[in-house]
Amino acid sequence: MSEQQVSVAVIGAGMAGRSHAAGYRQATTVFGRGLPPIRLAAIADANVALAQDAADRYGFEKALPSWEAVAEDPSIDAVSIVVGNALHRPIAQALVAAGKHVLCEKPLAGSMEDARAMAGLEKTASVVTAVGYTFRRNPAIAAIRSHVRNGDLGDLSVFHGRYWCDYACDTQVPFTWRYAGGMGSGALADIGAHVIDIGEYLCGPIESVSGAALTIQVPKRPLPLGAVTGHDAAPVSEETTEVDNEDSAIFTAHFASGLTATFSASRTAFGMPNGLSFDLYGLAGRVSFDFHRPAEYILDDAQPKPGTGGARQVIAGPQMPYFRGGYPMQAPGVGGGNAEMFTYQARAFLDQITHPSDPLPPNATFADALHTMEIIQAVVRSSENGGAAASVS
Ligand SMILES: NC(=O)c1ccc[n+]([C@@H]2O[C@H](COP(=O)([O-])OP(=O)(O)OC[C@H]3O[C@@H](n4cnc5c(N)ncnc54)[C@H](O)[C@@H]3O)[C@@H](O)[C@H]2O)c1
Repeated sequence: MSEQQVSVAVIGAGMAGRSHAAGYRQATTVFGRGLPPIRLAAIADANVALAQDAADRYGFEKALPSWEAVAEDPSIDAVSIVVGNALHRPIAQALVAAGKHVLCEKPLAGSMEDARAMAGLEKTASVVTAVGYTFRRNPAIAAIRSHVRNGDLGDLSVFHGRYWCDYACDTQVPFTWRYAGGMGSGALADIGAHVIDIGEYLCGPIESVSGAALTIQVPKRPLPLGAVTGHDAAPVSEETTEVDNEDSAIFTAHFASGLTATFSASRTAFGMPNGLSFDLYGLAGRVSFDFHRPAEYILDDAQPKPGTGGARQVIAGPQMPYFRGGYPMQAPGVGGGNAEMFTYQARAFLDQITHPSDPLPPNATFADALHTMEIIQAVVRSSENGGAAASVS
């Protein structure tokens, strides 16, 4: 990293890789002016045409054919890892060894062994190691956290969180890395990791789980005939292969604070392209959030005048975290959604590297994301034991 600039690269030009690329492109446009210039150096993907297309669209200098080429490029300072989970560990190890800062996608890794190795790597690394729990950057969710911390909801009692998607409903959607890796690595790790992290971000640590049920609804999928991006349909072969991780997961969680929660994650929930929502109740208030309406939440709390209580819609505006300086148009009610969260995440990562005077809250660590995987493993154990309680080790 030169005094004048930070050079960034993205490994993976698929569904989420493009969100990282867009985030880096926007990062200097938001919040304070403390960042040095950001050089958009490279996008790497085994599918070079896809990498080239992403590089052209998002203004990166070049496309590279492999993650190794990023690790070997001495001009690159900071890298997002945005490929299938089983590749996270070898890539992170090579990047850290090459002295590059790393922002890795969730879930941390494809196995517990890999996740533990990455958390170990973090302990001795002299570079920034971070994980993208993007939803922490949603202004409404961050505002809800402030309500909890200010005691506006009273002592917390019940949380219900769900992440329901429909990307696996179509039985002809081909087999990809998402459908391999054993129980726990399916919907639970892919989307459940986000809602588990939100639950802990708002309510503190989960100590144990119980009542877990993991199910596969579509046991076989056709093999793709070519490259597949994200959840896209693609030409498929007549040959099928077995899906070996869950389409749906449901469990109960017990928090250190005494709060009880139910969580569910599904990729076979028809009509739910991206259905993340939660309700959080305390003894003196409640909130509800639904990502279909990402720039608002419902709040019900103790009212100063009798008879004026009840749920009300709180619309995103300058009273919420991330709003001031986070949008080109600084007016209450202008909305905001997924793309902004990736911009703030990229900005926070660059803040962690460059230490400006007014940084955003740092990203989650590899250790934090290992903890999420320990919760997922406890859910798998509970499911294997007929729903018995399992502690998070
Ligand atoms: N935070 C979020 O909201 C979010 C959303 C989606 C995905 N993700 C995470 O992002 C990661 C990627 O998911 P995705 O949906 O973008 O996947 P994807 O399948 O759309 O894209 C992965 C890309 O990796 C490329 N690739 C495969 N092997 C490679 C190699 N050896 N070297 C270089 N490139 C290689 C593929 O060609 C593909 O383009 C996963 O960890 C996933 O969990 C996060």
